[in-house]
Amino acid sequence: MKLIRSIYVIATAGVALGFASCGASGDHPGYEYAPQMYNSVAYEPLTQIVNEEEGKWVSTREDEKGEFFNSNVNNPHRMNMREPVANTVPRTKDGLLPYRLKAFELEKAAELKNPIELNDEVLEDGRLLFLQYCKACHGINGEGDGLAGEVIGGVANLKGGAYVDLPEGHIFHVIMKGKGRMGAHGSQIPQERIWKIVHYVKQEIQKQ
Ligand code: HEC
Repeated sequence: MKLIRSIYVIATAGVALGFASCGASGDHPGYEYAPQMYNSVAYEPLTQIVNEEEGKWVSTREDEKGEFFNSNVNNPHRMNMREPVANTVPRTKDGLLPYRLKAFELEKAAELKNPIELNDEVLEDGRLLFLQYCKACHGINGEGDGLAGEVIGGVANLKGGAYVDLPEGHIFHVIMKGKGRMGAHGSQIPQERIWKIVHYVKQEIQKQ
């Protein structure tokens, strides 16, 4: 009998605790199971817990701060990263602004000039990047005969017909945003590199 009563007591306590943990409202988020799944122990780049008391009840830290406190005390604002200065736009390391033209604004893009100065080193970079990103479809000489291109079909021959006269801005935009059956590469190749590829396509593949 005693055993059964103990089981009842434990079960009732368990159920009561269960209900109590559901009591989340206002500033009280309820009790969390395995709280470190929600509150990162590691520093977060921009968000962090600045309240030194938070998680004190489970804290095992030697500095006696709460377990969830994860601010970087050595930096201003206690963040690991700095927020960008208000009303500013981040440029790439070569000083380029973010590319904002939309996929359908190809005509506007065609007027863009290549901001990367042409020299042998840039051409060599462009060649390697072309092999890396374009050869599979367009082929080693850009003639539309790459191995993947054969499967996909309809790959442009960059040496043929009107393609030879494509303005550099047009080529840049097609790589960045894609066109027709060719997918966008903008998320994989940074702007400077795309412009280097454009130099290579114009100078070597299309030899103008
Ligand atoms: C997955 C295959 C694939 C890859 C990779 C690829 N292309 Fe293309 N590309 C195509 C296809 C297919 C077309 C024809 C698109 C159409 O007209 O539907 C095309 C068309 C083009 C055109 C002509 C655009 C126009 O105005 O008609 C240019 C220029 C071009 N690609 C350059 C590149 C360069 C440079 C790279 C490397 C950064 C590249 N492509 C990577 C498949 C690819």
